[in-house]
Amino acid sequence: MKKILFVTSEAHPLIKTGGLADVSGSLPKALVELGEDVRIIMPNYQDIKTTEEVRYLSTVYVNNYAVNILETRLPGTDVIVWLVDSPEHFNFPGNPYLDEHGNPWTNSAARFALFCRVTVEVAMNRSYLDWKPDIVHCNDWQSGLVPALLSLEYSRPATIFTIHNMAYQGLFPNATYLSLNLPGQLWHPYGIEFHDMLSFIKGGLVYSDRITTVSPTYAEEIQTAEFGYGLEGLLSYRKDFLSGIINGIDVDYWNPETDPNIPQTFNRLTLNKKPLNKTALQERLSLPVDKNIPVIGLISRLVEQKGIDLILKCLPEMLTHPLQIVLLGNGDKSFEQHLYNFVDSHPDKVSITIGYDETLAHMIEAGADIFLMPSRFEPCGLNQIYSQRYGTVPIVRKTGGLADTVVDTVPETLSNNTATGFVFNEASPGALMEAIKRALILYDHPKTWKKLQINGMQKDYSWIKSAQQYMTLYSHL
Ligand code: ADP
Ligand code: GLC
Repeated sequence: MKKILFVTSEAHPLIKTGGLADVSGSLPKALVELGEDVRIIMPNYQDIKTTEEVRYLSTVYVNNYAVNILETRLPGTDVIVWLVDSPEHFNFPGNPYLDEHGNPWTNSAARFALFCRVTVEVAMNRSYLDWKPDIVHCNDWQSGLVPALLSLEYSRPATIFTIHNMAYQGLFPNATYLSLNLPGQLWHPYGIEFHDMLSFIKGGLVYSDRITTVSPTYAEEIQTAEFGYGLEGLLSYRKDFLSGIINGIDVDYWNPETDPNIPQTFNRLTLNKKPLNKTALQERLSLPVDKNIPVIGLISRLVEQKGIDLILKCLPEMLTHPLQIVLLGNGDKSFEQHLYNFVDSHPDKVSITIGYDETLAHMIEAGADIFLMPSRFEPCGLNQIYSQRYGTVPIVRKTGGLADTVVDTVPETLSNNTATGFVFNEASPGALMEAIKRALILYDHPKTWKKLQINGMQKDYSWIKSAQQYMTLYSHL
C-alpha cells in the first residue's frame, strides 16, 4: 500500500469548473478501493459545498501566514480531504479561478503559491498530521510549484505531475514572481522561468519524477508545436518520463440505470425508454415535442478549445435539416452572443442555456440522440464518454482523448461491433458538417443506430484499468 497525497484545485462534488474536478472526485476513490492510502489536498474555497463534517487538524506557518488544515471527506465516500484554509486567500465568493463577477482573481499567483507551500509542508510531514506520503500526485499548473519546491528538500516523497490541459500554464510577470519570495535557485530557463515570466506549470514539468497526461494521443501531441504552447521542447526532452493514461469516469454517478437527475432511467436492454428523456428535455426547454426529430446536444465551456467557432459556422447549414440543437455552457461572451442570435432566428430548433447546471447536463446526456464535441484539442474529454454510456452517439474531432475513446462508424467497425460514433479529422466547418450529415443519415436507420448506441453503452469506462496504470507508475517510483 502506498501513501498518496493527491493535489488538486477542484474536486467534484465539493467544487467544479470542469473535467479536473470529475477526475479528482473519482480517481482517488478508485485508488482507495484498490487499497491505496490517499489524501486529497485542496484549497478551502468559500463556495465549497459539503454535507460532511469538517474539523480542524492543525496550523502551519508559511511565508508569514498561519494556515489551518481542516479535514473532511469527499461527500458520500471514505476518501479523506484536507482543506488548506487561509481566509485571506480563499474565503471569497467565486470559483477557483474567477471571482463572483467572472473576472480572473487578481491574486491567483499568491493564492496557488500559498497552496503549494502548504502542500509541501504536509508532504514533508511538517504539519503535525503524522502522515508522510510516498507519492505526491500533482494536477495542472495550480500545483506546479509543489514538485519544484520539493526538489529542494532532503528525503522527499516522489512526485508525479498530471497535465490536464497545456493551454493553461499559470504564467505571471517577473514582478509577481518577486513578490512571492520563492527560492532563487528555481529561477532560470531550465527551472520555473519562461521568457522572463514565472511559469507554474514548468515547476511540474521540469521537477517532477514522472509526468502523465490524460490520454495517450495527447501525450504525443504535446510534444509538437501545435499543442505544446512553447513547452514542446521540454516535453520531448522528458519524453522517457512522460506517458498518457486515459481518464476513467465515475460509473456510479454517470449511470443511466440509476441517475436521479434524469426523468426516466434505462439501460441497454431498455433503450426504448430513452425517448422519454428526450420528451422531458424538449418540454423543459420549450422546444416542440417530437420523438422522431434528432436532438443534438452540447455541454461545454464556451472557449476556443472546444471548437465553438466551427459549430457557429456550421449552424446555418445544420438548421436547414430537420433537427433540434440543445446547448448548455458558459464562457466567452462573444460566443454566447453569437449563439443567442440563432435562438432568435430559430426558436423552434435551437435552445441555449448559459450557465452551469449539473442536472440539465445529465438530462441532455440522457435525452439527446447525438452529442457534439468538435474540439480543436482535447486532452481527454469526458462528455463524449458520458454520452456513450447514455446511448447518445458522439460526433468528435480526431484529437487527444476524443481519438482514443470514440470509434468512427465505417463498414468494418460496424460489422465488428466497435463503432460508437462519428470521427472527423480536419478542424474545418466542412469536415464537421460532413460528419453531422453522416450521423443524420444513419439516424434514419434505426437498427444500425441502435447498434452504435449499444456498442457505446457496453464499453468499460470505469477507473479500474487506468487507476491500476497509475498504481504501476507509483510502484516504480
Ligand atoms: P473540460 O475539463 O475541458 O471542460 P471535460 O469534457 O473533461 O472538459 O469535462 C467537462 C465537465 O464539466 C463535464 O463533467 C461536463 O458535464 C461539465 N460541464 C461543462 N460545462 C458545464 C455546464 N455549463 N453545466 C454543467 N456541467 C458542465
Ligand atoms: C481538462 C481537459 C479535458 C480533460 C479534463 C480532465 O480540463 O480540457 O480534456 O478531460 O481536464 O482530465
